[in-house]
Amino acid sequence: MNALRHLQEELSELERAGLLRVPPAAAAPAGMLVLCSNDYLGYAALPFPSGDGSASGAGASRLVSGTHEAHLMAERELATWLGVEAALLFSSGYAANVGTLAALARPGDVIVSDALNHASLIDGCRLSGATIEVVPHLDVEAVERALVRAQGARRRWVVTESLFSMDGDTPDLRGLRALCDRHDAALMVDEAHALGISGPRGAGLCAEAGVRPDVVVGTLGKSLGLHGAFVAGSSTLRTYLWNRARSFVFSTGISPAVALAAMDRVRRAAADDAGRARLRRTADRLRSGLRALGAQLPPSASGPILPWILESPGAAMAMSRRLGREGVVVQAIRPPTVPAGTSRLRITASASLSESDVERALASFRRAVR
Ligand SMILES: Cc1ncc(COP(=O)(O)O)c(C=O)c1O
Repeated sequence: MNALRHLQEELSELERAGLLRVPPAAAAPAGMLVLCSNDYLGYAALPFPSGDGSASGAGASRLVSGTHEAHLMAERELATWLGVEAALLFSSGYAANVGTLAALARPGDVIVSDALNHASLIDGCRLSGATIEVVPHLDVEAVERALVRAQGARRRWVVTESLFSMDGDTPDLRGLRALCDRHDAALMVDEAHALGISGPRGAGLCAEAGVRPDVVVGTLGKSLGLHGAFVAGSSTLRTYLWNRARSFVFSTGISPAVALAAMDRVRRAAADDAGRARLRRTADRLRSGLRALGAQLPPSASGPILPWILESPGAAMAMSRRLGREGVVVQAIRPPTVPAGTSRLRITASASLSESDVERALASFRRAVR
């Protein structure tokens, strides 16, 4: 069953009212006189000083005159990477999550949301006006109970991250998909931290699990090393968000130069099995070194995010300061970003770290715990 089947009906209503905005299949041809941008001083077409010559600015919202060929090419590339029909670029992951949830869900709906979902997902849930059922972290049975309770709701949504940003763990994506199918709920998965590093060709944890969410959110600012984000799914979803996601509609399109770079980074990431293997080795070495020091790391965090739980904010801050004096930057993460009593150092591995960097970091950790 397609839990988003109502989107097409709503788009048809818009069309009947003469209010449908249709995403263009191509950018306006060169030579057109653009008289509707916000590019008042004419700088948008200038390249970045160190760039490849492509336009630095979109000049306007994508719906007005801000759609460039680079956006459309990047969106096709992202969709192909994830094996879905379509993708839509947003200016950030925060904007993508808030805009998408507020566009899709509404009062009368129930959103089942993991207790440790990112702030942007929480804010999107709140802005939608839907009833929010916060369920304990990774608790699939609690999701099922919430969906059963939500049987009378107008619509049901399950919202999760695939690799949790602060805990580095992963939900049972297949279990969630099966529950959504059983209860006619839509599944939205934020793959911000998993894209590029997990799954076939880095296409994420949903691809790895063989799960097709109804809505996928990915960012360009993490593994792809840029900034911006995208929402991926069906063409109908893309057109719906084009019309309804306020953080997309009422915001300047992302830089065409960044969109072009995103296309290049997707190709690079898809082919970078060597980078993924290097990242895995680095994360494993850091993890085993930290555990050998007695650091408390959740057993479920098996990827590049290593949460070193120090419990009190004071202990986390003190450790962060000690490491800073060693020349190692690790920010302390405290409430409200994480629940009280779980303040931590969120250590992240990177394929860019050399073996000697890792050993230097471990030596610093060793001195800092003494
Ligand atoms: C899970 C998750 N989603 C969304 C975002 C927001 O992405 P962006 O930094 O592009 O706004 C983050 C960033 O920290 C994140 O961790």
